[in-house]
Amino acid sequence: MFRRLFPLVAFGFLSLAGATAHAAEAPVRERIAFNADWRFHKEAFRENEFLKGDAGRSGPADQPNAQPGFDDSAWRKLSVPHDWGIEGPFRQEYPNDTGKLPWWGTAWYRKHFTLPATDAGRRVYLDIDGAMSNAQVWINGRHVGGWPYGYASWRVDLTPHVKPGGANVVAVRLDNPPASSRWYPGGGIYRNVWLVKTAPVHVAQYGTFVTTPLVTKASATVNVEVTLDNRGADAEVQVATEIYALDGAGKRTGPAVASKAPASPWKAPAGHQVQLTQALTVANPRLWSTAAPQRYVAVTTVTDKGRVVDVVETPFGIRTIAFDAERGFLLNGTRLTINGVCQHHDLGALGAAINVRALERQLEILREMGVNAIRTSHNPPAPELLDLADRLGFVVVAEAFDIWGLKKTPNDYHLHFAEWHEKDLRAMIRRDRNHPSVIAWSIGNEIVEQGAREGWKVAARLSEIARGEDSTRPTTAAYNHVGSGYNGFQNAVDVFGYNYKPHEYAKFHEHAPHIPLLGSETASTVSSRGEYFFPVSDDQSKGQANFHVSSYDLSAPPWASPPDKEFRGQDDNPFVAGEFVWTGFDYLGEPTPYNSDSTNLLNFTDPAQRQRMAQQLDSLKKIAVPSRSSYFGIVDLAGFKKDRFYLYQARWRPELPMAHLLPHWNWPERVGQITPVHLYTSGDEAELFLNGQSLGRKKRGPREYRLRWDDVVYQPGTLQAVAYKDGKRWAEDTVRTTGKPAKLLLSADRQAIRADGDDLSFVTVTIADKDGRPVPRSGNRVKFTLSGPGDIIATDNGDPTSFESFQSRERNAFNGLALAIVRTRAGQAGKLVLTATADGLGSAKVMLESKGP
Ligand code: GAL
Repeated sequence: MFRRLFPLVAFGFLSLAGATAHAAEAPVRERIAFNADWRFHKEAFRENEFLKGDAGRSGPADQPNAQPGFDDSAWRKLSVPHDWGIEGPFRQEYPNDTGKLPWWGTAWYRKHFTLPATDAGRRVYLDIDGAMSNAQVWINGRHVGGWPYGYASWRVDLTPHVKPGGANVVAVRLDNPPASSRWYPGGGIYRNVWLVKTAPVHVAQYGTFVTTPLVTKASATVNVEVTLDNRGADAEVQVATEIYALDGAGKRTGPAVASKAPASPWKAPAGHQVQLTQALTVANPRLWSTAAPQRYVAVTTVTDKGRVVDVVETPFGIRTIAFDAERGFLLNGTRLTINGVCQHHDLGALGAAINVRALERQLEILREMGVNAIRTSHNPPAPELLDLADRLGFVVVAEAFDIWGLKKTPNDYHLHFAEWHEKDLRAMIRRDRNHPSVIAWSIGNEIVEQGAREGWKVAARLSEIARGEDSTRPTTAAYNHVGSGYNGFQNAVDVFGYNYKPHEYAKFHEHAPHIPLLGSETASTVSSRGEYFFPVSDDQSKGQANFHVSSYDLSAPPWASPPDKEFRGQDDNPFVAGEFVWTGFDYLGEPTPYNSDSTNLLNFTDPAQRQRMAQQLDSLKKIAVPSRSSYFGIVDLAGFKKDRFYLYQARWRPELPMAHLLPHWNWPERVGQITPVHLYTSGDEAELFLNGQSLGRKKRGPREYRLRWDDVVYQPGTLQAVAYKDGKRWAEDTVRTTGKPAKLLLSADRQAIRADGDDLSFVTVTIADKDGRPVPRSGNRVKFTLSGPGDIIATDNGDPTSFESFQSRERNAFNGLALAIVRTRAGQAGKLVLTATADGLGSAKVMLESKGP
């Protein structure tokens, strides 16, 4: 055990305290959900005040809305997480790169609360997991801090001004500048809020750091570094650690597997932090992996003269990670090809407001496709995403920034970079460094400095900060300029990430054979679920009509490519660690190729290409583009799979017998016309039949990833593919011409849900013909009603051009599908019945049950 001592001086607004703990197990520390009963007020839009120079250090003192006596009774009552932007309305005149929703502006949140008199003498902190953006906080009228970056988690210390035994009011002001994002950021306190109470001597915020420097089959050395924060009188404390194995649900499986009894007392002088490290040994460790995400928890107990003053639990995993320039990424010594996706933070129809079940559903769908890795593009994620990744077995590249000092949009993070980059980067790493899922820290995405002389020095500095915080993980960055592979940037990170450069992998490797390489962002293929346009072309700029993009998966913007090209790049260069596809799910904003507000012009170094793109954008600006969400997703905004899902599944789950045919077979207007048929299969060969007649058996050639019958002449009926692997029958798929819409089919992803006010059931409506076959091109209007203790909180259909409110209870199906999202009410168990009705199609019901604890 060793220790360090340093004074409690300010570290910007990264105030010092707290980690995960549960009140029930550790009454000495309480971490109370502080989400309910807020009052909210959105101000009419004014020019952003925050940007006029007050960089968040001192909030304006004379804000009437922050004062305890202010009458907020007329303000709207709500719970956080809350995103005011998603409430809309969509407006044609709003920018389409950020989703045509009103997410900007100034708003206030106030919450009244009382504290028991017994809290006197305790420290009281407010922890905000994320507020968009430029937050300022007052307690009882006194300004106590704030944080500009909307994706950061942060804490303010309420202790000096809070009243134990009395009434208190906390006020939060947000100031979300327009033109500050390239995608839909949301607006509001959109992540969870906590009230944390501790003894004066306590484990600091993010004050435990568990590392496993030595891992063998027989044993693992587990180092637990603890930072204690003493806000009281001089003390002498003892620290003990116990380690328990956890099961899949996060419960301890038995007695401690390792423990360290308190050693002789440590001096914790008043107003100082003390840091000490304990080394423990876990015998026969169960290693964390994507296939078997085994976790442990370290329980840190702090005692002061025999009295327990703090208990903190730190879940962690035992595993080794390494990036190797020849072998790629190694998890526990074995190559794990990164089959990853980039994900933005919004949750579709739910907006930016975090909901754990919605996130979990995304991961479940991605897992089914074979995804094993997530890149949190381009910002720190909600902490719950990493908990899920730990538990479900995904590796994560956690990204800090999309912007450094040079801007992409007028009011973006470049305004804060100089003052805040260090605090933001340290805050992300300290919060997230105990997650076994995190395998690298990304210091940035396509930062404009790539083209600046000596821009690499910024990268080097950020890497230095990251390594200083955590020497167990590499740094990386996502570069889109070929030049950054050669101009110094390549040496500024431990793992080099190229965006959209499969054709550069070999050259880079030859030039820098010692630097591990990753496809940090790939493909950016665009498509609308269920839309197909003819003639089918391999020209990736084609396949566009009616503000949709054809789902033959051959279309992509000029800097990008269909998936097949990246697959080739990966297969030809096996030293590449894998790829992160742009993107797993569709997201709000950035509706390329209809993104008239695109900043992707930055992607072009070639002036001629740049000019062509600029012209395209100009012509888009002249028309009323209705697009408000992306076409990049492999899965649409509602969570429905596009065809591409199966192209990736075929590659990433080769052991799964599967075959997927496209397009659908309802083309009355195409009788006698060429209608190409593509098949995605994990087999290596397939035969196609139309109405029982063979159209030929085809084998996948080397570096081919789909089977194509490009000269099929359309006749209604049955299209069937029989796939083979190694000459044996392996899988098949059938697509039939359907009848007219005749009925609705309903299915819930989960019928039993928790009565906790957060849990969700995602209910899919399928428009079917009389035989129950999904009707592909149907767009019938569906109305939803719900009986029982729950609410329909959103509906969607995955159509990127729909301006219909996400809160609407009715919605047209988009290519045969629509979605309703049902949420339970806290403490109200009971049966729920969701009914969907459509003119001429009758109605359908699904039973749900909201269950108590
Ligand atoms: C990349 C960028 C992403 C997204 C993508 C679309 O250049 O990093 O944020 O804009 O292009 O293809």
